[in-house]
Amino acid sequence: MNAPNSSKLARVQYPRQVEHLIQGVEASDGAGVRLTRLLSQTLQRRLDPFLMMDAFGSDNPDDYIAGFPDHPHRGFETITYMIAGRMLHRDSAGNEGLLETGGVQWMVAGRGVIHSEIPQQEHGLMKGFQLWLNLPAIDKMCAPWYRDFSADELPVFTSEEGVQVTVIAGRSHGVQGAVERPVTEPLYLDLHVPAGACFQQDIPETHNAFIHVYEGALNVGSTRVAPGGLAILANSPHTDGVVLKAEQDSRVLLIAGRPLNEPIIQYGPFVMNSENEIQQAFHDYRAGLFGGAIEEEHEPRR
Ligand code: FE2
Repeated sequence: MNAPNSSKLARVQYPRQVEHLIQGVEASDGAGVRLTRLLSQTLQRRLDPFLMMDAFGSDNPDDYIAGFPDHPHRGFETITYMIAGRMLHRDSAGNEGLLETGGVQWMVAGRGVIHSEIPQQEHGLMKGFQLWLNLPAIDKMCAPWYRDFSADELPVFTSEEGVQVTVIAGRSHGVQGAVERPVTEPLYLDLHVPAGACFQQDIPETHNAFIHVYEGALNVGSTRVAPGGLAILANSPHTDGVVLKAEQDSRVLLIAGRPLNEPIIQYGPFVMNSENEIQQAFHDYRAGLFGGAIEEEHEPRR
């Protein structure tokens, strides 16, 4: 895609600064997949509507080969972005898809799915991210929805400064992303920023936002963000976006969304608004209501 005409675009005049830097925590999930938990439950309120983000990345098959066998979800969405590797998804709503290098899988668990995510490789690098995005209370019991986007289905543009931008969700410099959601309005960008280049992105003052540098290093104002870290961007009054300046060739995820400001009650793979709803989720799961008999009433709001 051609570089958008930035002369028509408003410049970020009051950029956000970094509120604080967070290092991920090593963890294991699924049947023994090694990963780094970048965003955990302690940040759910601060980064509302985002509930969790994991990074996985290893060229040792022992770290990933077991994958994530059948497990349930209710009440939120999962967005899996595969930087390298191949993973097969199957779920109780009848969906099946192969997620390959550069692709994105967007799943709305809604009222319940059981799914598996199993590597389709026995050697080589597997690297990517999974982000959990909350659903508003009104949509938590919507019908499940699922879509795979291959790398060439994702909108990509290059800025005048040579920044390559993959727009997974939301909108950047006039380019509409693969997915737009009306309530949480998620922005999800993967940026390849050449050394010395700047990138600016408008972000509404009320939205919560963070970046994760997974290669290289860059600066947000006077704060240097090193690889592997997650930087929470401050919600200071009257800010209108963020400006990133790469110290070296960098790859970074820029993620933002509108907070729901609703109660968040999580128990493992279920995220609801009350304890009663969590108990109901366990009851429904045990009663087999997450199984194959999920009927399509309506497509959830996108
Ligand atoms: Fe899952």
